[in-house]
Amino acid sequence: MSTKRRLGGHKEKARMSAPPTPPTDLPSPATRNIASCMNAVLADVFALYLKTKNFHWHMSGPHFPDYHLLLDEQADQLFAMTDPIAERVRKLGGSTLRSIGHIARTQRLLDNDADFVEPLDMFAELRQDNLHLAARLRDGHNVCDEHRDIATASMIEVWIDETERRTWFLFESCRRGVSGKRAAFISPA
Ligand SMILES: [Fe+2]
Repeated sequence: MSTKRRLGGHKEKARMSAPPTPPTDLPSPATRNIASCMNAVLADVFALYLKTKNFHWHMSGPHFPDYHLLLDEQADQLFAMTDPIAERVRKLGGSTLRSIGHIARTQRLLDNDADFVEPLDMFAELRQDNLHLAARLRDGHNVCDEHRDIATASMIEVWIDETERRTWFLFESCRRGVSGKRAAFISPA
């Protein structure tokens, strides 16, 4: 077989193994921008999901049942975001996250691998992470508005509301722990 023929065969194989791109009326710069933005949000949501589960599993102290359940509910809500985000990216013809390693390379929220975290420190950290997530979702909404991607924008609106609800509950849970003293509010960077 000639070299030319072999190279042609490789190209053909690569074309056959590439995932098909679903059609969309949005132009490719728009879909690239939206996919990039939403894949970063997806990595953050997976990171926050696992941190919330981590704190759910390692919760301790006198409020254990309430705190344990609160974080389980919040983790479920975060996990429920992941499939719709990834599928929005695919519907727009982009590729999405493929592995834990891909998440780790893409996430902007920090992990917490500490052996022990005080319950109120857990809430403060998650509250801050949810504030950052809301800010990144707003950034995503701006990108979608710019490119007239109404479907992704409308889903982001719901996720912002859910994120603000999680932040609210975490904030109030911290207040309960400081004997009525108002906890410091930290705005996202
Ligand atoms: Fe559990």
